Amino acid sequence: MAAPVADAQKVALFIDVSKPGPKIDRNLFGQFAEHLGHGVYEGIWVGPDSKIPNTRGIRNDVVAALKAIKVPNVRWPGGCFADEYHWRKGIGPQRTVTLNPNWGGVIEPNTFGTTEFMDFLDQIGAEAYLSVNVGSGTPQEASEWLEYLTTAQPTTLAKERDANGHPAPYKVAFLGIGNESWDCGGNMTPNHYLSQLKIYSRFVRNFNPAQQDKQQMLKIAVGPGGGEPRWTEWTDAIMKAYQNHTWSWDMNGLSMHSYTVVKWPPSYASVGFGETEYAQILKSTLEMNDLVEKHSAIMDKYDPEKKVALVVDEWGGWYAPLPGSNPGFLAQQNSLRDAVLAALNLNIFARHADRVRMANIAQMINVLQAMILTDKEKMVLTPTYYVYKMYVPFQDATFVAVSIDAGTYTHGDITLPRVDAIAAKDKAGKLWLAITNVDPNQSAEIEVTLAGINAKSAVGETLTASKVDSVNTFDAPNSVIPKPFSAKAQDGKLTLKLAPKSVTVVAVEQ
Ligand code: AHR
Repeated sequence: MAAPVADAQKVALFIDVSKPGPKIDRNLFGQFAEHLGHGVYEGIWVGPDSKIPNTRGIRNDVVAALKAIKVPNVRWPGGCFADEYHWRKGIGPQRTVTLNPNWGGVIEPNTFGTTEFMDFLDQIGAEAYLSVNVGSGTPQEASEWLEYLTTAQPTTLAKERDANGHPAPYKVAFLGIGNESWDCGGNMTPNHYLSQLKIYSRFVRNFNPAQQDKQQMLKIAVGPGGGEPRWTEWTDAIMKAYQNHTWSWDMNGLSMHSYTVVKWPPSYASVGFGETEYAQILKSTLEMNDLVEKHSAIMDKYDPEKKVALVVDEWGGWYAPLPGSNPGFLAQQNSLRDAVLAALNLNIFARHADRVRMANIAQMINVLQAMILTDKEKMVLTPTYYVYKMYVPFQDATFVAVSIDAGTYTHGDITLPRVDAIAAKDKAGKLWLAITNVDPNQSAEIEVTLAGINAKSAVGETLTASKVDSVNTFDAPNSVIPKPFSAKAQDGKLTLKLAPKSVTVVAVEQ
């Protein structure tokens, strides 16, 4: 039974618009698509002969949904899969059929390869974040992949690309050099990885003429996977080497992976849970803040100018596999709890936008904390999808600091901040507020004082549902969808009444 809704809790929020902060990089809203379960096959790729409406084999419904959330970049082909991926098996008219030992040991048909991924990006309007194979590949293999993709010169590889239907060089915005090289990517020591990083950074070149001076490809090194000494030592070793790097190698980002799981193996249910699991998961997700700050502090020591971005390129809720699903497919439902979890993490990234300039939620479709679930011709958008949609105005907006007297929400021995909020000014100068009421039982009355702006009203959307584990299903796709929201200002102060367990995004009208 749902707990009774008590009186609204009053929360004071203060924003000084005249003190802008860093840019909230649109790449914080990046996605991750691995060859894993139904993430790529069925989720994106159905093949040109499918009855499911598609463009060159890529599902039209998924493309339309992703365009609406303005996906800035997609990380591909993995994950652990990337360190076993050999790109030549996925190009040309004849594909090599291989296996996917990491994820269920299933057949990997390689029908979705380089051409299809770049076509997919083109269809959704996103940039490429390629993860190259350091674990079981070679620098030569990776450098030839980049030559195949990016050269405008008539080399044999460029002619092969042309024969495969793309005469013009592709753009590759981001290059991930390995994945979790401390674990599934080869169990390397920091020093062993560093020697690989230097070689890959030197020889895996982007030749696209349009990416030489401007829009240079950013190279992302493997970074930590937690907060324990093993991880801080890893960050320290890579950043120390970066500080002393010579002309012959470079890096622009350090990756960090952190899932909300509470304990391994993931055992929390993704649906059919109550307030206790809601509170436990949200407590665990808020640890992202300390993790970001811990690794940022090490990075600051070696890179005070913040040239290297902290790239949280795998994050999200990781729960028990859905009953009856292949456990290697990492299939889970996505509930209102995930919407709150997503908002809290996006807020953490935005508050650290000077260092955290890219993040990729895991994973885009049908895997872990997905935006979209599909079942053959059916598609449903998840509560997390709607948070990404509501947060679109924050992409490339300027961060504006918020002071908040949030109060607390307590359940059993867990106490969390009741409310979380960020603010930003978009390119047109409009102020946006995103406010999450974590408390699942009490609404919150937010009194917003705005300095430097004469607010008249706030207009936007709010996302909530009847239960903490409310989900959208193929049969009931609209249980958790945003609803219009508005509030009036009096004497320059806005009062927003937020439902329990809700995420609200509004534009302040002057
Ligand atoms: O996202 C699933 C897996 O989690 C990725 O393949 C790997 O990098 C991480 O351990």
